[in-house]
Order: sequence, then C-alpha cells, then structure tokens
Amino acid sequence: MPAKARIAVIGSGLMGHGIAQVFALAGHDVTITDSHRPNLDTVKQRIESNLRDLGDDEKAVERVRPVADMAECVREADFVVEAVLEDMPLKQKIFGEIEQHVRPDTILASNTSVMPITEIMQGLRDRSRALGTHWWNPPFLVPLVEVIGTQWTSQAAIDFTMKLHADAGKMPAHVKKDVPGFIGNRLQHALWREAISLVENGICDAETVDKVIKAAFGRRIAVLGPLENADLIGTDLTLAIHKTVLPAIDHRPGPSPYLERLVAEGKLGFKSGEGFRKWSPEQQAALRAKVLQHLKKAREND
Ligand SMILES: NC(=O)c1ccc[n+]([C@@H]2O[C@H](COP(=O)([O-])OP(=O)(O)OC[C@H]3O[C@@H](n4cnc5c(N)ncnc54)[C@H](O)[C@@H]3O)[C@@H](O)[C@H]2O)c1
Repeated sequence: MPAKARIAVIGSGLMGHGIAQVFALAGHDVTITDSHRPNLDTVKQRIESNLRDLGDDEKAVERVRPVADMAECVREADFVVEAVLEDMPLKQKIFGEIEQHVRPDTILASNTSVMPITEIMQGLRDRSRALGTHWWNPPFLVPLVEVIGTQWTSQAAIDFTMKLHADAGKMPAHVKKDVPGFIGNRLQHALWREAISLVENGICDAETVDKVIKAAFGRRIAVLGPLENADLIGTDLTLAIHKTVLPAIDHRPGPSPYLERLVAEGKLGFKSGEGFRKWSPEQQAALRAKVLQHLKKAREND
C-alpha cells in the first residue's frame, strides 16, 4: 500500500465530503466529483470549516481536488469510494461507468447504508475488486467503517481496504457475508424494533424508552459490548434471562404498524416537527448540538 494513496470520492454530500476529509487528513491525495455543481463548488469550504472546528490541520484541504468529470476523478485512483444517493439503479450505473475509466487494480467501494453490495456490483466485469465500506455519520467523528466483501471479493481487496482505513485512523470491521444491514444496522434496528414495540404496547412512552437506554446500558455500551457483557455476567445467567425475555420480545418480521401509521399521518420526526415525540426547532437544534459535542469529546478521549 502506498503511504500516499490516490483516493477518488464520488458524491460530495454529507458523507462524501467527510470521507474525503478523513483521507486527506491522513495524507492521501483525494479527487472528488459530484453531478450537482453547487455541492462540488462548496466541498473544500465545508472540509476546511470542519477541520478548523475540530482543531485538525487545515492544510489537509489542499490535498482535496474537486473535479467535475467522473472519468478524470477516478482515472489515477488506487481506491474509489462512491457516496451518491441511496438509489440502486444509480449506484449500478455509476460503477459501470467507473469501471471503464479505472486501472485494472483499482479497488471499488460503495458507502451504501443497507443495500446489498452483491446487487450493486453484480454487473461489473471484474467483481473481485469490489466491496462495501460503510462509514457512519459524521465520518470524521465516528470511528467505525464496516468493510463488506461479497462472494466475489478477493482477500487482497479486503486486506488493502482494512489497512487503508486503519492507517487513516478509522476502526475497520470486516463483514464476512453481504447481509442486509451488515453488522451495525442489524444490531441498531433490532433495538429500535423493540423500542417501538414498547411504545406501541403501552408499556411506556417514547421519552421513557430513550431515558431507560441513555441512563442504563447506554452509559456503558461504548466500553462494554453485549458479548463482553454476557461473558461478564456469565453465559449461564445470559441463557436464563433469554429463556424468560426472548419469547416476550417483538419478533414480527416486518416494520411495526405503529411506525407505518406515524408515516401515513405525516409524523416524520424532525422533518415535520413530530414523530414519536413533538420537536420544536429549538429542541431539534439542541439535540443535534448535544450529539456533536458528545462525539467530539469521545474523539478527544480515544
Ligand atoms: N447520511 C448518513 O448518515 C449515511 C450514513 C452511512 C451511509 N450513508 C450512505 O452514503 C450515501 C450518501 O449519503 P449522503 O447522506 O452523503 O447523501 P447526500 O444527499 O448528502 O449526498 C449525495 C451526493 O451525491 C450526489 N450525486 C447524486 N447523483 C450523482 C451522480 N450521478 N454522480 C455524482 N454525484 C451524484 C448529490 O449531488 C449529493 O451531493 C448513501 O448511499 C447513503 O445511504 C449515509
């Protein structure tokens, strides 16, 4: 792996500009493209402002080169990461295009949140170099990047990608099978399903669900994962708990009808001012600021 790799980022939105920032800060040369000109024109400004805000080296932005032409963006790249809209036909089309312009050894990655990498990459001539890299928002504050291989992905492509991200200060996790939601979103949404079910069944209100999580196991989860926790209390006790609790936990295969009703009623959360709870603009801003502050502090303590 070259100490200074050439990274191409497709899409300069929320995730794309943050991914470009991380690679540039790690010393790599980054090209970035976007079909929406205003996003491309503001990308350096947005990265510079993030770097300043975080107290990171502002000069890193000089290693980011916005280019309007996709072919030019990827031509010299060692590694291409796509972060356009969550749209399967669009992603498939973009990778088909990218494949025409890259070197035979360039690694191709998609930052899809939940879409199967297998389906995104199925039309490529060489699928052994294609994989998923699932970053979390904001890319420069959340350490994890899930690296997802398909049945076709070569070990060399996985190894390169794991090392590239680890060297850039991220915590890559190898997902060995391309399953919907990978690891993080499967775990996260298993919790959300039960959270919604508790409200739906009148056991508590939405505020109480969040309070219980934040004031109980949420307090230790950043340093104590569930399987560490199971070992800590004992697998025998874990088994006993599961015998009582698991049959009572929501295990319906589809989304909750309660959630479907909220959406049908236009209760879309922050977007409409009400979801599970009501949100004034001030409350929304305060929560966003709180999360950002928390993530910044966590990074300082890393
Ligand atoms: N937002 C998140 O929290 C998050 C987290 C992890 C993964 N993701 C995934 O990352 C991807 C990007 O999400 P986002 O939140 O950054 O979206 P976004 O809407 O902020 O950015 C997408 C960008 O892609 C650009 N684009 C659209 N079509 C294009 C094309 N043909 N060529 C080049 N650029 C094009 C858009 O102009 C836009 O700037 C999605 O697949 C999303 O699911 C998002």
